[in-house]
Amino acid sequence: MIVESSLTETRRIVRAARQQGRSVGCVPTMGALHKGHVSLIENARKDCDFIVATIFINPTQFGPNEDFTRYPRTLDADLELCRAAGADLIFTPPVSAMYAESAQTIVRVTRMAQVLEGAHRPGHFDGVSTVVTKLFNVTEPDRAYFGQKDFQQQLIIRQMVLDLDEPVEIITCPTIREADGLAMSSRNRFLSVDERQRASQLFHTLKLAESLAAESTLTPPEIAQQMTNHLKSVNGIDVQYAVIADSATLECLAERSDFAVALVAAKVGSTRLIDNQILRFR
Ligand code: PAJ
Repeated sequence: MIVESSLTETRRIVRAARQQGRSVGCVPTMGALHKGHVSLIENARKDCDFIVATIFINPTQFGPNEDFTRYPRTLDADLELCRAAGADLIFTPPVSAMYAESAQTIVRVTRMAQVLEGAHRPGHFDGVSTVVTKLFNVTEPDRAYFGQKDFQQQLIIRQMVLDLDEPVEIITCPTIREADGLAMSSRNRFLSVDERQRASQLFHTLKLAESLAAESTLTPPEIAQQMTNHLKSVNGIDVQYAVIADSATLECLAERSDFAVALVAAKVGSTRLIDNQILRFR
């Protein structure tokens, strides 16, 4: 496994692999890797001949009051996990190599990036879509792997590559969870023992939505209300949103639909968590 911080060298290595006829899979990450990230690399390994994982804590997707400075940095452990999962190349550039002081360009997805996470984290998705475009430009992958955990993010990236004719296929991989259902996240390590227990209520709220969709005749807004009530009944959870939206456009659903996703965001103590679940209405 090669570890590389230079953009030009990374591009050269990937191009050399491609010249040997190898297909290229890219797994963008911000490090602090866990089994969710590992599963993306393993999925890439199944489909592609050459796997490049990127580790870059992207400053432009953090708001001024967010956790950029305290975001966990665990490069040695990350490299071990990447090696074990079968990555061929790790691209881990310094911030200065990704963002020149003179830079003036951002990539912005419009409607879909303004709701939900976009509404609570202004500018977040501009940072994501810009850095992912840059990472694709350096690694020139055939396929790129994203987690369903960040449902809105993978939709936005799909929209972006479609709109900009970026020649990469986006693959969305299932959310990997802890034994009690909590979605794995680099931020879970910030939870105290108490908060960690309460955090699993995000998952239970989604399971509630799943069973109400499958077994009751409630409408999406009625189910969303029950989700909010459920989360609000847990002390120490600050609900930011609990909605049922169209799984292609993220518009809130008024009526039952074959394309529905339940999405939640909540602060548990000072840690902000998100999760989602595809719904099947009966
Ligand atoms: P990060 O939070 O490190 O996540 C990297 C990838 O891992 C994302 O596609 C995310 O959806 C996926 N992932 C995280 N937790 C997961 C889980 N429990 N199960 C499955 N997949 C999971 O998302 C980002 O970084 C950044 O925004 C990035 C795309 C790298 C751009 O900076």
